[in-house]
Amino acid sequence: MRIWIIAHGSRARPPGIVILLAVCCAMLGPVPSIGSDTLPDVVKGRREAMKAMANACKKIAGMFEGKLPYDAPAFKRWADTIKAHSGAALMAEFPAASLGPPSGAKYEIDKSRDEFDALARKVASFASVISAAAEQAPDDITPQMRMGAGMSTIGSSLLGKRKIAAGEEDISKLPAEHAFHLLLQECSACHAKFREEIH
Ligand code: HEC
Repeated sequence: MRIWIIAHGSRARPPGIVILLAVCCAMLGPVPSIGSDTLPDVVKGRREAMKAMANACKKIAGMFEGKLPYDAPAFKRWADTIKAHSGAALMAEFPAASLGPPSGAKYEIDKSRDEFDALARKVASFASVISAAAEQAPDDITPQMRMGAGMSTIGSSLLGKRKIAAGEEDISKLPAEHAFHLLLQECSACHAKFREEIH
């Protein structure tokens, strides 16, 4: 089942999450045509990792949208799943020799390691913010976790009015829902540049 089905008939808030989920997870279904037995282990491994992240995103989106009951330990576990599979773990899953067909990973990755790694790290940073939010909210999704909470401060910091560089320190103040939205954008940004659909 394609993940965008969760958008059907929903009054998702914000709708952007559903759209981004659809874009970044459109391949959640079975990998077509190429027999996965013939793929190198490193490719199989990273695809499993990607699918685990996509599944975790789906669960977190479900809780934000009220389609799944909010469960703080589970919410945190899904965020930690994304954290574990992004950052350095993700970076290590794309050695130069594994790029190109039959994998969907473009050769371009090896030419743009800094950019690729930065995207992988950003996913991990946003996942940390989401994970930490669950610890502060044992019973319910709090208003502080919602899109729009505390935006004036964050907005001004993102506009560079504060001195701290846009790093972990800054993003730790993002509402979890906003961090999730940005996380999904990083998935999509990396796929747009570094992945091609192989059929
Ligand atoms: C830094 C780059 C990068 C980031 C960040 C990234 N991906 Fe990927 N993703 C890829 C590449 C490259 C492939 C193709 C891998 C292959 O075919 O070998 C892929 C493949 C996938 C697939 C298809 C797996 C399959 O079975 O073929 C899914 C689903 C996926 N990613 C989901 C996600 C989600 C969800 C996120 C964010 C939480 C994410 N990805 C973040 C680069 C990235």
